[in-house]
Amino acid sequence: MDIKKIITNALKVKNTDELIAAGKKSEFKKTLNVFDLIIIGIGAVVGTGIFTIIGTAIKGGVENAGAGPAIIISMFLACIACVFSALCYSEIAAMIPVAGSAYTYTYATMGEFMAWMVGWILMLEYAIGNITVACSWTGYLVQFLKGFKHILPAFITNFPLWLRNDYRFMFSFCDKYGLDPHSQMPYIFGKIPLAINLPSIIIILLLTILLIKGVKESTRFAGIMVGVNMFMITSFIVVGAFYVKPENWTPFAPNGFEGIFMGAFLIFFAYIGFDAISTTAEETENPQRDLPRAILGTLIICTILYICVALVLTGTVPLNQIDIQAPIAHAMRAVGVNWFAGLISVGALCALTSVLLIYQLGTTRILYAMSRDRFLPKSLRLIHKKFRTPHILTWISGIIVIICSLFMDLNISAELCNFGTFTSFIIICIAVLILRKTEPDRYRPFKVPFYPLFPVLGIITCSVLMIYSLGSLKTSSLYFPLWLLIGFLIYVTYGYGQKRLEERVKLQRQPKKHAQV
Ligand code: ALA
Repeated sequence: MDIKKIITNALKVKNTDELIAAGKKSEFKKTLNVFDLIIIGIGAVVGTGIFTIIGTAIKGGVENAGAGPAIIISMFLACIACVFSALCYSEIAAMIPVAGSAYTYTYATMGEFMAWMVGWILMLEYAIGNITVACSWTGYLVQFLKGFKHILPAFITNFPLWLRNDYRFMFSFCDKYGLDPHSQMPYIFGKIPLAINLPSIIIILLLTILLIKGVKESTRFAGIMVGVNMFMITSFIVVGAFYVKPENWTPFAPNGFEGIFMGAFLIFFAYIGFDAISTTAEETENPQRDLPRAILGTLIICTILYICVALVLTGTVPLNQIDIQAPIAHAMRAVGVNWFAGLISVGALCALTSVLLIYQLGTTRILYAMSRDRFLPKSLRLIHKKFRTPHILTWISGIIVIICSLFMDLNISAELCNFGTFTSFIIICIAVLILRKTEPDRYRPFKVPFYPLFPVLGIITCSVLMIYSLGSLKTSSLYFPLWLLIGFLIYVTYGYGQKRLEERVKLQRQPKKHAQV
């Protein structure tokens, strides 16, 4: 085995001109404008993070200390980490407007092996992140249905526990409320207990079908969802502001820096998603102009909203009464505005639905780019004849999310998603530094200001938050390296061989061409 050759192969970068040319030849329809892109951005960003995880970030959880009202500082820290990365995303996305996001950019800068690993890590962000959202979707559906208990029959408003919880959650739920789990579940053949999260399965199936029908149809639908959830969040800020008691903001940081840092790590989940905009580069009418505008616009809008939500939430409810499952809806109930709590659940459901939709869109576009590069079988990237969408990959990613949501824990999947995203953000900042050296003259419609300070600060902020959290979050910090190891093994046993096969096929074709000439 020639180690030197293997290393040279693993470091082979993709030619930027070829990448851009491949993007131009793309079979996708170019239908998205800057407005669609901001809808995709907000639709992907506003979701479980602000509607659910914010509760644990403020109050604390099993493995993390809470930030308390100082969550606004945590948000600020998380936002700073995102801003540097968002600027770097904008520079590269405008320069190389090709599907695949960080995966593609890594291929152009750090070579084949790192590209595969980044693609694999992005699956943590998109597919595993989607599992988090799918799990909390059912929670809000239950909250929403409860609001109709006087109108609708009980079998709808209070449908069986075994149809709304996965197997693991079923046991912990019964344990918490002193129920016997065995009496709550039906048994298949009298032996195998059955518990499934049916609502999340149904919503993923419906969204998969919608995504296959077309990206424009999907963003139109996401637009409606985003409109409703923006309206609800803004109303929460306005209505909640009347119930704010400044004394609830003391103690401001009950767990000091530890709480603030852990809060920043967790609430980072609420910011993830603006990078999904760059996965649709090949479907954008004017990617070089619109991608940077949409990425930065999304981040600014969401940050303003989040800080306001955090101020109102921590101001209306005393710290020890903040709910960790549906904190925003609960805050309104706590101050006696029950009707509004029900409406918040509608906003949350819309927000979570749009995140699910856009994350699945992102998953399939990254997998598509990886399959185009032969890391995945060619048959997977077949485009639907009528709808012009990658239907096989869309089904596969939908089915994976459904299967995983049957057994994965919400908080662990959120933490894993954060680890994956921090890593991809760090890599994007490094990619900007590399490309400025290797391709200094290439046209850049958008440039990161204060270069090289901003990319370097991006690397530092993301690394510090990630390394700090690795120490406390015992479970996910074990799974994350495991995920990387599995990715490495797949590359060694499959991806590397496929790439060499591709090279041999290309070489064999070349002499034939000469012969014909
Ligand atoms: N930012 C997305 C959410 O909060 C992932 O659901």
